[in-house]
Amino acid sequence: MAKTILTGIKPTGQIHLGNYIGAIKPALELADSGEYRAAYFVADYHGLTKIHDGAEFNELSYGIAATWLALGLNPDKVIFYRQSDIPEIFELNWILSCFASKGLMNRAHAYKAAVEANKIAGKDADFGVNMGLFNYPVLMAADILMFKAEVVPVGKDQIQHIEIARDIAESFNHHYGETFLLPEYTVQKDTAVLPGLDGRKMSKSYNNTIPLFEEPGKLQKLINKIKTDSRPPEAPKDPQSSVLFMLYKEFASELEVENMRAEYQKGIGWGEVKKELFHAMNRFMEEPREKYKELMSSPETVDKILQEGAEKARAVSAPFLKEIKRKIGFSV
Ligand code: TRP
Repeated sequence: MAKTILTGIKPTGQIHLGNYIGAIKPALELADSGEYRAAYFVADYHGLTKIHDGAEFNELSYGIAATWLALGLNPDKVIFYRQSDIPEIFELNWILSCFASKGLMNRAHAYKAAVEANKIAGKDADFGVNMGLFNYPVLMAADILMFKAEVVPVGKDQIQHIEIARDIAESFNHHYGETFLLPEYTVQKDTAVLPGLDGRKMSKSYNNTIPLFEEPGKLQKLINKIKTDSRPPEAPKDPQSSVLFMLYKEFASELEVENMRAEYQKGIGWGEVKKELFHAMNRFMEEPREKYKELMSSPETVDKILQEGAEKARAVSAPFLKEIKRKIGFSV
């Protein structure tokens, strides 16, 4: 049987290029390869650890769904759903929390980072930390283990969460016999950490991102902001170490990339590269941008697709949860 591949995106900010190149694009390619049974979802309840404004939460959640669909996710081929539509995940979340050691959660990086930041600011270690944030890795384990995912494409910063999911699965299996599959992660190597406008990792937390469906004028401006060095146009440049080249590779044809590589070696001005990059990116985004707008103005279309996906997902999660509960000792 085909392996199950699963991944989710949480609605905590506008989707940016880093999300697309690091997560969405490779996930869509894997789904298209036909080698996997793919389950992709909107991790909306994960977003609630941060977003406490109703309108914003709603907008961001639909935004994630519309992004996947605009970029070509085919709901006939991928089980595509909203986490909050699958109640079994939340029941499993509780079950798994009884097999997750608190010490392990203390070491989870998002929580640790929050504690560190508090220490530096001279605040109480747990200031501003809600239990949702602390339990975040357990809910993520439930997302993954519920569907017996074997492969989980994630960004580098999520590797620890997959390891935690494996740990929790092993603990449960140890008590009740083989139940959960141990998931593996895949990280796209060279794009795992895409630099943002300022050269640091592109991340919503650094405010250095290029939003995916930016209008052409804005997109051009942002591309112009990408940090480069002060070498003159005629100086030969190394494509390998250039952010602009890295981005160009994602959107240009093979031939265009080869030509650009030659230009770098000959010597090309950064302004020229930026122009070409804008051209390639805008060309690629034209259609998805329109589709995205269409979907965002038609939430009922998105709802229908997600509900059909939820039905397919629950056909898997409901019987599996029953099996899990029987092992625990329920008479279900
Ligand atoms: N934590 C992931 C992120 O921030 C999102 C996520 C939630 C996820 N549940 C998941 C990813 C399950 C993969 C599998 O990017």
